[in-house]
Amino acid sequence: MRAVLISAPGDASKLALGETQTPVPKATELLVKVHSFALNRMDISQRMGSYPPPPGASSILGVEFSGTILECGSAAKTAWKEGDEVFGLVPGGAYAEYVVIDAEMAIRKPQNISWQVAAALPEVWFTAYQALFLNCNMAEGEDVLIHAGASGVGLAAIQLAKLKKANRIIVTVGSDEKKDFCKSVGATHAINYKTEDFASKVLEFTGKKGVDVIVDFVGQTHWNGNLESLAMDGRMVMLAFLSGPVIKESNLAAILRKRLTIRGSTLRSRDLTYQRKLKALVENEVFSEIFNGNPDLQCVIDKEFSWKDIVQAHLFLESNVSKGKIVVNID
Ligand SMILES: NC(=O)c1ccc[n+]([C@@H]2O[C@H](COP(=O)([O-])OP(=O)(O)OC[C@H]3O[C@@H](n4cnc5c(N)ncnc54)[C@H](OP(=O)(O)O)[C@@H]3O)[C@@H](O)[C@H]2O)c1
Repeated sequence: MRAVLISAPGDASKLALGETQTPVPKATELLVKVHSFALNRMDISQRMGSYPPPPGASSILGVEFSGTILECGSAAKTAWKEGDEVFGLVPGGAYAEYVVIDAEMAIRKPQNISWQVAAALPEVWFTAYQALFLNCNMAEGEDVLIHAGASGVGLAAIQLAKLKKANRIIVTVGSDEKKDFCKSVGATHAINYKTEDFASKVLEFTGKKGVDVIVDFVGQTHWNGNLESLAMDGRMVMLAFLSGPVIKESNLAAILRKRLTIRGSTLRSRDLTYQRKLKALVENEVFSEIFNGNPDLQCVIDKEFSWKDIVQAHLFLESNVSKGKIVVNID
């Protein structure tokens, strides 16, 4: 089959279409002909050689896709048949003509959902749901701060916080255009972290109380501001370190004084049992709403590319200008 291959660890120019072996589904898996796949930040780290796929996963990039079932493993035939249209999250292998997925991780694609939207749903909505509700136990009426608000995960988190009736949904972003965009999908307050001190603004917006929940992807540059921004009994989940993982100077007293809970989380390294449960929760509570046309839940796609232009697609992802998802079509 054809797939996007990495000639050597490095920049986007190291990506090119090439020939490799078609995967063979196990008894509990489906072989799917891929129509579209979506990009994620981890693809950049994997391309550069600093983020190996989990043990047993395909070394081909890509964790989410949409497509048509070509073959069902022997134990997967009761639930699925050849020709069914599906999408889903995989530990790797989606930048290819064919991919295998665990039959319980596959999600049926309704006719009213495009191939592109289906491919762009799993990773960011699973991650945002996990961060807000499983990692941080966000409850109705709480105030939430979401960094990188216009990122794929950020936009999903804004809409999920609104769905579950958060009080204030505050975001930080790197441009005024992104501020307006985040407000258009449900943020109640937006801060440009490049021109404004986000912690002072959070305390101003919350009447000095601070926020109950923070979803952070930034790490280093936002750490001290995050400690200032959290309310009593506040919870923060750290999902990435976009500005770096090392904190040079920090006063940890706030963690004790405010009884803070700070945790890290990943999705790709979770075992299949955990991922199947998370998939079922998101499918039932969130994707069902999207399929039924809930106008408050949008899958935001910034740009589509042909897979022949995979280098340009990665450069666009790395430019930090995108709002929402980047989808690639196999053509
Ligand atoms: N742990 C997990 O389970 C998990 C799962 C999925 C994703 N992630 C991580 O979550 C993050 C978001 O993923 P995504 O795919 O949604 O990203 P994305 O759509 O590519 O957006 C990332 C955005 O982050 C902002 N950013 C970049 N560098 C920054 C910096 N130094 N300081 C502040 N903001 C910065 C940029 O927006 P601005 O213009 O606002 O700066 C950029 O557009 C990524 O780091 C990804 O690796 C973690």
